[in-house]
Amino acid sequence: MGKILFVSSGKGGVGKSVFTANLGAVYGERGIRVALVDMNIGLRNLDIYLGLQDNVVFDAADVLNGVVPLSKALVRDRRMQNLYLLATTQRKEKFNAVESHVADLYRQLKDQFDIVIVDGPAGVNRELHLAATAVDAAVIITTPEYVSLRDADMMDQTLRARGIAKRVYVINKVNRQYMGTGALPGVEKISAVMKVPLVGVIQSDDAIHLAANRGIPIVMQRGNYIERNFEKIADRLLEVV
Ligand SMILES: Nc1ncnc2c1ncn2[C@@H]1O[C@H](COP(=O)(O)OP(=O)(O)O)[C@@H](O)[C@H]1O
Ligand SMILES: [Mg+2]
Repeated sequence: MGKILFVSSGKGGVGKSVFTANLGAVYGERGIRVALVDMNIGLRNLDIYLGLQDNVVFDAADVLNGVVPLSKALVRDRRMQNLYLLATTQRKEKFNAVESHVADLYRQLKDQFDIVIVDGPAGVNRELHLAATAVDAAVIITTPEYVSLRDADMMDQTLRARGIAKRVYVINKVNRQYMGTGALPGVEKISAVMKVPLVGVIQSDDAIHLAANRGIPIVMQRGNYIERNFEKIADRLLEVV
């Protein structure tokens, strides 16, 4: 039986989807059976970051609505045969499932995969509560900005209230130039606000951004410092879930 890791943030645009794609690729490279689930209902993104947009025919809503079985909606990555994507619908009105339906979908995924990484939506709303149903652990992404940090802390409290006990966070888009200048909150300040363990710090790097937009998670370009960093984060997250 696999585990579900929920990727969340408070604020949008902090890098949840890029993080999900790269983490999935790291596990996939290790031969772990991994499913990436886009739960940004109505706002599908993850397929593009994985370069799989032309392969998506059915989505999570089709499975939940009984249109197709899960096996028909899962898209296998072209590069790694144990990495799969379950896309979300671009039509929000198609997604009328309730929490128990999502929990059932997650159970099916856990039966087939070692790890299921759910790319969650920004904000605290109905979509968030649906996506965070029956997950085993959560990783909250923040950037080193006060607005993002406050929202990450808010999300952490929301997930705690939902009963998700295993929660950790990652700081993404760290810019060396501002480290220690006091212009932006540093690791110490962020750690003082966040009440859960830090599992990694990822630099802001155009290479991450450019690779994602070409549909190639940067960790697939082997041997760079970003890949080594993701490897460490992936190890720590396996200990958490
Ligand atoms: N570490 C990083 N360095 C540079 N750009 C990044 C990094 N992480 C994410 N991005 C970029 O930030 C933007 C938002 O990322 P995305 O993963 O879509 O955010 P979210 O899913 O949280 O809304 C994208 O343009 C992405 O390429
Ligand atoms: Mg996203």
